[in-house]
Amino acid sequence: MLESLGTSSHDEERQGESYAPLVADSQNYRKKFYIESYGCAMNFSDSEIVASILNDNGFGATANYEEADLVLLNTCSIREKAEQTVRSRLHIFRQVKRSRPGMLIGVLGCMAERLKEKFLQEERLVDMVVGPDAYRALPVLIGEAETGQKAVNVLLSREETYADISPVRLDSNGVAAFVSIMRGCNNMCSFCVVPFTRGRERSRDAISIVRECQDLFDSGYKEVTLLGQNVDSYYWIGEEAAGMAGPGSATDTVVTFAALLEKVALIDPSLRVRFSTSHPKDITDEVLHTMARHENICRYIHLPVQSGSTRILQLMNRTYTREWYLAKIDRIRAILPDCGLSTDIITGFCSETEEDHQDTLSLLEYARYDMSYMFFYSERPGTLAARRYKDDIPEETKKRRLDEVVKLQKKLSLVNNCADIGKIFEVLIDGDSKRSAEDWKGRNSQNKVVVFPKAGGSYQKGDYVRVKVEDCTGGTLIGTALLS
Ligand code: 5AD
Ligand code: SF4
Repeated sequence: MLESLGTSSHDEERQGESYAPLVADSQNYRKKFYIESYGCAMNFSDSEIVASILNDNGFGATANYEEADLVLLNTCSIREKAEQTVRSRLHIFRQVKRSRPGMLIGVLGCMAERLKEKFLQEERLVDMVVGPDAYRALPVLIGEAETGQKAVNVLLSREETYADISPVRLDSNGVAAFVSIMRGCNNMCSFCVVPFTRGRERSRDAISIVRECQDLFDSGYKEVTLLGQNVDSYYWIGEEAAGMAGPGSATDTVVTFAALLEKVALIDPSLRVRFSTSHPKDITDEVLHTMARHENICRYIHLPVQSGSTRILQLMNRTYTREWYLAKIDRIRAILPDCGLSTDIITGFCSETEEDHQDTLSLLEYARYDMSYMFFYSERPGTLAARRYKDDIPEETKKRRLDEVVKLQKKLSLVNNCADIGKIFEVLIDGDSKRSAEDWKGRNSQNKVVVFPKAGGSYQKGDYVRVKVEDCTGGTLIGTALLS
């Protein structure tokens, strides 16, 4: 499991997870669909849009693919390993289809976009190929596939944001939900396939975002995470934006990310607001000050650095230097002293030397991240790096460096968690502890997992509880609830 290593739950760790839908009583629908999602939170959020479109077209969700009329895989292309996982799942579904020939298999998302018709050609592994901007076409494509036609739509759009579609919450704990605020990406990080699979960046109508968050709050949710590939470049202009940009700006028709964040935070002080992902070049002081003004905007920033070496950062086309990034960390700590921080790291990028690698390790030490998502470089066809640079670091070296980064991060996580012993945090309960149903599990504002015994209190999922930390591991704070 060296390909991707996070010290807490992450997109990659959710790979292979399938939804056990709470929503759909499939008895009331004509047909049943089953969906499995891979990759980032954005993909999980897209599956909820797909579920909504399918519900409207007579398909109810099932958690058992063996009884499904339609099996969908919402796929990720970010690393080769992610694609391999999807392929092996497809072979399993293909087997099931042998005994149930009427069953349709569809590939959605980034891998569909990257490989297009190839999927239909390869041993006819699937019946439908649908890119991330083509989900509205699903009913038509299903109709085509049912009559044995090639069903492919991988058109990318400059406008599609699915703003008017109310996502159907799948596999939800009823406490926290993702809300997509934009799609696509205009950055051209040289290692990354996303600009090719998800197309140009576009921001979703701010009014529909605030409405979706309000609806979630009204139906009992306590936390929303605003999602985008690069949330800090959220920018929406619209006639209806008048009055959206905050007090005193009734004529302003522009909504920036900071303004959006504030709008969502103002829905209710008991609604927590998170966001992901920030790009170091775009996160502004305005965002940091907005966070400081609202206690319910969580003190947590995921700020991918990728490498600690300025030379490698340049090759990666990240558009900042090591020093610039470190200054950003200082700024965050100055404005939000109690802010949790995490990052993404890639080891063994093209031409990376031992010295570059040491720069990454020393940057980690400086930033004192609470958590990192760590990967070794996986060349993706068509990317700038694949075209320009040689993937010249041997896999062994990539993995050894990854291992060193992981070890250091584990140490830092433990040190940071130990420093929390004795502190009191407000924790939002999101379910039972994985280890024991006698304990609650939740998160503090800094996004750290906190567990504490249920005994002695009468709390439930979705409650806020003050917890005093008494012990910890590298990944969890352990405490007791303060009875109020
Ligand atoms: N190889 C390894 N890791 C990658 N990431 C993106 N592309 C690649 C790649 N080709 C990592 C980056 C990014 C995270 C989502 O995945 O660290 O921030
Ligand atoms: Fe994977 Fe990136 Fe697509 Fe998300 S956007 S599913 S991480 S390739």
